[in-house]
Amino acid sequence: MPKPSAPPLGSMAWFLSLLLIVSAASATDSKNNVADELVAVINNNRTAHKSHTLFDNPGLGCLALEYIKAYEGQCNEVGNDKKPPDSSFVDTFAPNCGVKAATLAPITGRLLACQSKYVSPAEAFSNVLIYNAKSLQILYDKNHTQIGAAVSGTDGGAPYFWCVLFSSGKTNNSFTFDGGVAKNVRPGCFSGNNDDCSNAMRPAGSLFLPAITGVLLVLIYAFGL
Ligand SMILES: *[C@@H]1O[C@H](CO)[C@@H](O)[C@H](O)[C@H]1NC(C)=O
Ligand SMILES: *[C@@H]1O[C@H](CO)[C@@H](O)[C@H](O)[C@H]1NC(C)=O
Ligand SMILES: *[C@@H]1O[C@H](CO)[C@@H](O)[C@H](O)[C@H]1NC(C)=O
Repeated sequence: MPKPSAPPLGSMAWFLSLLLIVSAASATDSKNNVADELVAVINNNRTAHKSHTLFDNPGLGCLALEYIKAYEGQCNEVGNDKKPPDSSFVDTFAPNCGVKAATLAPITGRLLACQSKYVSPAEAFSNVLIYNAKSLQILYDKNHTQIGAAVSGTDGGAPYFWCVLFSSGKTNNSFTFDGGVAKNVRPGCFSGNNDDCSNAMRPAGSLFLPAITGVLLVLIYAFGL
């Protein structure tokens, strides 16, 4: 895994304090899962902003990874403001994850980014996913009760996708798995499942196209609904 370089925005002290927050906050989740780390960063930022902590729902996390897969590695589609049809949640994402379709709850926000360089979850949050007033509004939306995050990269190379889904569903009975067990969806990592997954960059076979190499490219999009 490439070492993250210094963040282009913000001071190094700021970045280090974020890292400290992350390592403290991820104590209950897996310490070795980049998607869980991203959720911890988001919850810490929300708490500091006096917004409530969001429940890290593994079913929603798995759907976030399926959401990424719907782009088939096409980074430029993210910048094009394209998104998978809402029907894909019922038609493909839920069945692939083993999430019971009847337990799908409303999606209240989505953050999506794709870039050619791997960065840490803290950097992905502050420098990539949250980048304008719209994404801040989604971050602090009062309707969210739960969150699911996913990270995916290919072949030790670009592009790297980050996806965060928010929902207003009840945490005890939404996005639940058939038989109560998460399906092992790979490649990539998703949050809430308490599994070790630092290696979003494991070989992905032909699933993703290594479309962009050597060029730093960042494409981001925030959807209110
Ligand atoms: C948030 O809640 C308000 C009031 O309950 C509702 O009018 C609005 O449509 C909701 N927004 C989203 C994004 O679900
Ligand atoms: C929360 O994140 C936003 C966006 O990166 C940043 O501007 C803000 O300073 C952060 N707040 C805290 C308290 O960390
Ligand atoms: C979920 O919690 C609500 C109250 O918060 C309760 O009414 C409901 O029965 C619970 N559902 C399950 C499946 O535990």
